Amino acid sequence: MLFPWDMNLEIGNDVIDDQHKEIFSRANKLLSAMADGKGREEVDKVVAFLTNYVVNHFSEEESLMSRHCYSDYSRHKNQHAQFINNVSRLKMEFETQGATSDLVIQTKKHVCNWLRDHISKTDKAFGTFLKNKS
Ligand SMILES: [Fe+2]
Repeated sequence: MLFPWDMNLEIGNDVIDDQHKEIFSRANKLLSAMADGKGREEVDKVVAFLTNYVVNHFSEEESLMSRHCYSDYSRHKNQHAQFINNVSRLKMEFETQGATSDLVIQTKKHVCNWLRDHISKTDKAFGTFLKNKS
């Protein structure tokens, strides 16, 4: 696995943690599909799933934040929007140029590293907030 899940990424909310694990597993599928030079169809399939799933996941997180009147809501939501933009940019690049080695590097950076960074900081802060609330 190129991009392993790490227990330290758990934020303490089972629903969100399970969704994060699923996203990690799909991000790994995307990286291997690209790195193994799998056809466009396979990469498209993973990208489509990843995009839909992440959009739903983000909106679940956002409604949980707004339900709890979370003070960092808008900054957190902006980060989500930025991710979606990055993914659509990468998708367009893939469609025009295919899985170049630069695109694989960009995907690692803007999908995988972004996710790890966002979950370990921004989502974790929200997890701590939720824990303190209950
Ligand atoms: Fe988040």
